[in-house]
Amino acid sequence: TIAQCLSRAATIAAASILLAAGAQAKDFKIAVGDGAGGTQEALGLAFIEALEENTGGAHSGKLFLNGQLGSEQDTVNDAAIGTLDFSILAINNITPFSPSVGTMTLPYVILSLEDAVTLTQGPIGEELKENTIRDAGVRIIGWAYSGFRVLTNSARPVETVEDLEGLVIRVPRNEIMIATYKAWGVNPTPMAWSETFAGLQQKVVDGQDNPYITVYAMKFDEVQDYVTNLRYIFSIEPLIVSEAVFQDMSEEDQQAVLAAGEAATKASEEFLRAQEETIKQELVSRGMEITDPANDEQEFIDLATEAVWPQFYDSIGGVEKLNAALTALGRDPV
Ligand code: MLT
Repeated sequence: TIAQCLSRAATIAAASILLAAGAQAKDFKIAVGDGAGGTQEALGLAFIEALEENTGGAHSGKLFLNGQLGSEQDTVNDAAIGTLDFSILAINNITPFSPSVGTMTLPYVILSLEDAVTLTQGPIGEELKENTIRDAGVRIIGWAYSGFRVLTNSARPVETVEDLEGLVIRVPRNEIMIATYKAWGVNPTPMAWSETFAGLQQKVVDGQDNPYITVYAMKFDEVQDYVTNLRYIFSIEPLIVSEAVFQDMSEEDQQAVLAAGEAATKASEEFLRAQEETIKQELVSRGMEITDPANDEQEFIDLATEAVWPQFYDSIGGVEKLNAALTALGRDPV
């Protein structure tokens, strides 16, 4: 409409005045752990579009997919020291730097997309954002939601905890995930995300877990045959900005970045709802065989919650942090 054109023109004019006043146009570097076609890329593209719009085209960004700028955990370090502007990565790769976000990766705490939205966008998410600035030197400004981390492997269908025996499973360097597999009787192999495809291809490891959308974006169907519909972790993937870079921005730019992060978060939710089922069917048509865990996953659930939760009360800031999350999700505290 004419009104929209006028308002866009006004935004551009305002941005030119800002630039004339000395602000620098920026083309921010955004590291992305996954390949094209996943929720991380969708979040990144939505963020760039909103940032360009919010700054009248003064600022933009470029995505570096597939871990081109380093492993996901390395990008947290780089952003913390300000040599990288932004990164999009899985939350489990932030936990080592900011242990309290472990609340969101404890097994079987988040049981749906709605749960993930409640925790990330409510008061608990706000507290974790503050902690992450303090502990890791990075600010979470948006969230991608990618679905449950299903287990894939190249050896055989896995239906029970017993079926896992003897499989070599790659996990991120994340203590909660390592402890979970141990509770299931497996000693998993920690490996950086950027090395995982090669590890599966060369059969250094037999399997790994990640959401359907990520399995697809990483082309894991080329090196994995079987999927088990585990629901132990619902994958949440934050967009982080270096706190040093953020503090160097003008207040207007900070607001533009935060608003773009919010818009991108909404887009990610829609992307997951629209894409997950289609992508799952695509993986089946490429030959992946899908199995549901026996007895509604009860054995996996009991072993993981009983053995793993208490081990991490201290690192997440006390059992009351878990209870706050469970209560926010309408469940009974422990
Ligand atoms: C991991 O398994 O290291 C991450 O979940 C990968 C990702 O960011 O998709």
